[in-house]
Amino acid sequence: MAKPTAAAAIHAGGHERWGSKLGVILAVAGSAVGLGNFLRFPVQAAQNGGGAFMIPYFLALIFLGIPLAVVEWTIGRHGGMHGHNTAAGAFSAMWPWRGAKYLGLLGVFGPWVIFLYYTYIESWTLAFSYFSLAGLLGQAREQAAMTGFLQAFQGLSPNAIFPHIGTAYFFFLLTFAVNLLVVAGGIQKGIEFVSKVFLPLLFLFAFVLAVRVFWIGAPDPARPDWHVVNGLGYLWNPNLSVLGSSRVWLAAAGQVLFTLSVGIGAIVTYASYLRRDDDVALSSLTAVGTNEFAEVILGGCLVIPAAFAFFGPEQLAAIAKGGAFNLGFVTMPLVLGQLSWGQLFGCLWFLLLFLAGITSSISLAQPVIAFFQNVYGWRRARAVAVFGAVSFVLSQPAILWLGRGALDEMDFWGGTVCLVVFGLLEVLLFAWVFGMERGWREIHHSSDIRLPGFFRWVIAYATPAYLLFVLGFWLYDNAKTTISMAGVDAANRPYVIGVRWMLIGLLLVMALTMR
Ligand code: PHE
Repeated sequence: MAKPTAAAAIHAGGHERWGSKLGVILAVAGSAVGLGNFLRFPVQAAQNGGGAFMIPYFLALIFLGIPLAVVEWTIGRHGGMHGHNTAAGAFSAMWPWRGAKYLGLLGVFGPWVIFLYYTYIESWTLAFSYFSLAGLLGQAREQAAMTGFLQAFQGLSPNAIFPHIGTAYFFFLLTFAVNLLVVAGGIQKGIEFVSKVFLPLLFLFAFVLAVRVFWIGAPDPARPDWHVVNGLGYLWNPNLSVLGSSRVWLAAAGQVLFTLSVGIGAIVTYASYLRRDDDVALSSLTAVGTNEFAEVILGGCLVIPAAFAFFGPEQLAAIAKGGAFNLGFVTMPLVLGQLSWGQLFGCLWFLLLFLAGITSSISLAQPVIAFFQNVYGWRRARAVAVFGAVSFVLSQPAILWLGRGALDEMDFWGGTVCLVVFGLLEVLLFAWVFGMERGWREIHHSSDIRLPGFFRWVIAYATPAYLLFVLGFWLYDNAKTTISMAGVDAANRPYVIGVRWMLIGLLLVMALTMR
């Protein structure tokens, strides 16, 4: 194995390390536990067969999520030993071929693209926690009024409270600034500190809310079957007939990758700040376990049961069709608003989302910061300043063209395509270029546990095959309609094309300036 070179050692940023084992696990778990756990997961499950969704979900967890998590931690730690803190550097440390770093660039670009819209959504949660506390949300008493409130806030349909997008902008700037402040603090004093405080707090909030939701029971005496427990049944009773649909399998694979923050490069960067003798095998599994508890247990106990108790199964189905934002930002405040202390619980719900969001978005920012440090040789302050300025400009389409499909377009390339493609590249590189024999040894270097030998086979064959299948199916099934924008309103196409050029431009600039 190559020794870290002197040139690699002087890479700016390469000397930073995590302060403790708990710290890095909480940081990675913080990245994983995000809006995806509390908003995206319950809606995906409810729409894709309920309890039956958990069959493709758990298979994806075993054959995609867990192996990719282990591989990313290992690749990251290995790259860090060579002074590299991004997937681009980590790939070149594993593969002498000159093009390797360009493949790894996807693991910096992907997180950046997600960051550009994720922070905006995150800022809504901060805004709504304030609106709840201030009693503004209580004024809307049914779906339509609350939807109007949300859309006016987003600048889509101005009204008396929100004559323009200014309020949303204000909260965006605030959220954006908080993100920059955390990454400016560095690995230990910024990311690790925030993760150690916010993640436990987030679990506490989720727990309090889950207890409160169960307390609701059946709020309408005339409809005793609209009971939260039946809400759990609504979410979990299996509809096995959906298993024949490829859509359900793709949704499960996508959800597992997204929720675990794997297949994107964020964990490669985080793991690069480990020491050579730090464990990766048990730590990666602990982070996965923490995320799954937050997703399947806590995520399953909040929006769906709460909405079921107040709206019943038929209306809930219609609401869920409106998507995760509809449930989280419209239905949930309506439900919580009807409880005593409703303002407080509403605030708690949005603060929960905000804490979950921020520990995720900082993990999307750090790969780019590390890229600037490693590749351009910039100091942290400069890297953060440039990252902030450029990201601010590039996030404008997600804000101003929200109604034009800009955010969805960015989510599609960053949050879907990049995940699958980068995940495939890294697992192939690990198992077939670096070599499974070496890779398996690297996983277990100073490890606190030994993985079952079964995973050797999974990493070498099952994970690549699964990802190839997902990619192939997607290409076959809907790549053409997506790329040709068949589903996009003709009026919105220029905006979507604008977003595409922006993303292509960003990728090109990064590739051309890479040394
Ligand atoms: N895992 C985060 C969530 O569930 C999203 C995320 C994806 C964060 C990729 C970082 C990297 O919301």
